[in-house]
Parts: sequence; structure tokens; C-alpha cells
Amino acid sequence: MSIENKSVGLATKFIHAGAEPDPSTGAIMTPIYQTSTYVQSAPGHHKGYEYARSQNPTRKALEEAFAAIENGQYGLAFSSGVAATDAVIKLLNPGDEVIAANDMYGGTYRLFTKVFEKFGIKFIYVDTTDATNIKAAVTASTKLIWIETPTNPLMNITDLAAVSDIAKAAGALLCVDNTFASPYLQNPLDFGADIVMHSATKYLGGHSDVIQGCLVINDKDLREKLYFLQKSCGAVPGPMDCFLVLRGIKTLHVRMKQHCENGIVIANYLRSHPKVAKVYWPGFEDSAGYAVAKKQMRGFGGMISFTLKNESMEAANKVLSSTKLFSLAESLGGVESLINHPASMTHASIPREERIKNGLSDGLIRLSVGIEDAADLVADLQQAIG
Ligand SMILES: Cc1ncc(COP(=O)(O)O)c(C=O)c1O
Repeated sequence: MSIENKSVGLATKFIHAGAEPDPSTGAIMTPIYQTSTYVQSAPGHHKGYEYARSQNPTRKALEEAFAAIENGQYGLAFSSGVAATDAVIKLLNPGDEVIAANDMYGGTYRLFTKVFEKFGIKFIYVDTTDATNIKAAVTASTKLIWIETPTNPLMNITDLAAVSDIAKAAGALLCVDNTFASPYLQNPLDFGADIVMHSATKYLGGHSDVIQGCLVINDKDLREKLYFLQKSCGAVPGPMDCFLVLRGIKTLHVRMKQHCENGIVIANYLRSHPKVAKVYWPGFEDSAGYAVAKKQMRGFGGMISFTLKNESMEAANKVLSSTKLFSLAESLGGVESLINHPASMTHASIPREERIKNGLSDGLIRLSVGIEDAADLVADLQQAIG
């Protein structure tokens, strides 16, 4: 069934996105086309596939799925989330400026500061939760605004429509890392973004068994530029990984629904815990980002961070090493719950002073709330926090 964007419900869209019966056999599931090349009947006479870095049928089905679930025209799959980010920055030239969030995934910050700065691209980090900070940072050289919302790990919310207006007025592209929300909760293109990026490793794959990234765009020229980078730089995912993410997307809605339900239970449990100082979750009505989150998201997800009243590393470490259902690991978005220490794990590449300045304290603990029974997750946190 081919689906028209926005014309069907989310569940139908996620199940049928990119899914066409295989033309050679009628297989309902897209086969894993494990091939590096395609036979031509004469030079230049082929069936649309020449070499698998440039085209692969399993990847094509997935890229169509990416486009459908983000309400975009075109999808592109990459071998990781950072490879997708890398392609976006390679659209730029030396001297160009990027305005980026001062609170975002540490690996994105590392790519910007340690890889691309030396090629003459300038990154300006601002608190994007207040769009006027972005406006104030715009110069004639601003070519890209890079937003994460909710952010990793402080769950800060940025107003997508407001930033899109600023990007358009500045003649700059707006790229939104939508990994934390997933397309179930938020579609940035609908609010005027030019590019949506995902670490498909997370909610899209959903089972902690694949590393992958994607970009979704509406503009054909922009798609051509990004496709050129995808095939020229070569960070493409293998067909098996494409199959896994295609399969993951089919259950995105049921998984996300449960992540959201469990997220509500865990966020409220933590907030009422006498040993917990602060809980970061955009679903609290008194949280700074609530009004904007309510406007642009369909729910609040299962990503939650918190600090303990006892600010010592010893206290945080005790919790981090005592959970039994929440596994201590990097990553997020899988069916199983994970617990993480951003300062030493996912965000270790950000200098400590920078981290602290932007509110990411040494003792911050991040949870990726899975889809297990909420009562069991609460019991696990209870025994770990004490
Ligand atoms: C918000 C966010 N963006 C991008 C990435 C990078 O994705 P990947 O690990 O698939 O390269 C991550 C990884 O944790 C992430 O959390």
C-alpha cells in the first residue's frame, strides 16, 4: 500500500511507510538485498541500480519510509546519526556560520568543534529555548541553525515555528535533530524546518540492535545536494541494518505510546521522591518548556533526567550501579530501560566548564524509560535510590 503523507493515522502510516510488495516475488516484507553491485545488460542499461553505495532497494524502501513518517518528500539513510549530521555540515563552506544549541548531544558538539571548526566553519552556541538569542546571533554568514528539541540530556524545548521564522528571514537552513521526540511525537518539517535528522539507532530502530541515521527533506535541490554527499562520502548503511530499521518503524507507535505512559509514571514518581532534587521532563505543567512542548509535540516521551539532593558523585554512582532493570549503558530509545551518566558517558566530550555553565551537572542521571511494566521500573528505582 502506498500512503499519502498526512492522509492516514499515525499507526497506519508507521506500519505501511515505504512498504511495497517486492516486485520480483511479491514478498510483503522488503527483502535484504545483500549485494554490492547490479548486472547491466549493456553499458548504462540497468534497472535503476548500478552500485550499492549509490542505490540499494532495501535502503530505498527505508528512505521512502523515513520521508513518509516525517511528512517529508525525501529521506536519506546514513550509517549512523553522526554520519547524517556530518553530511548536513558538509553542505557548508569555510567562513559559514552555524548557530547551534548550547545543550545537545555530546557527539554532535564533538563533531562540530573537533572536526569541522578546523575547516573554517564557525559554530556559535546559544540557549535556543529563547529564540531571541538565536536572532541576536544571526550574521550575514549564518547559513545553518541546528536545533535539538527536546535536548539531550536536559530536555530543553525550543520553539520550532519561531526558529523557522528566524532561519527564513536570515536565509539560513534550519536542521532539527528529532531523535528524542521521534516522528510519533513531533514532525519539525510541519513547523517550517528544512531538514530533520534522526539517530535511527534510537526510537526508529527501537531494539538496541543497529546504528543508523537519517535525514528528511522537502526541497528537491537540497535532497540532491545531500544525496551527492551521501554517495560521495559513502557513509551508507548496509541492507541488513536498513531492514532492521524498516521493521522497527512498524511498531514505533505502540512502543512510543508505552514509552510515554511509563514516562509519566516515572517522572511523577521521581518528582515526589524525597531524595530527588530536580526532574527534567517536558511534561510537567510548571516546566519552562511545557507550553511550547504542548504546542509542537503529541506527548512527552520517556526520556527523563534527574539530580539527587545529595550532590556527591558517590550518591549518583550508587544509583547508577544499583539498578537492575535499568541497565547502565549509553544510548536510548530501545524497548529496554537504560540509565546513563551524561557527564562521564554520552557528554564526556564536552569540557566540564562548558557542561556546568549550561546546566549539565556532574551528578545528573539520565533515564531512557523502556516499555516494561511501569510498576517494575518504579520498584527498581526505589531500591536503587533508597
Ligand atoms: C540526540 C542525538 N543525536 C545524535 C546522536 C548520534 O547518533 P548515532 O549514535 O546514531 O551516531 C545521538 C546519539 O546518542 C543522540 O542522542
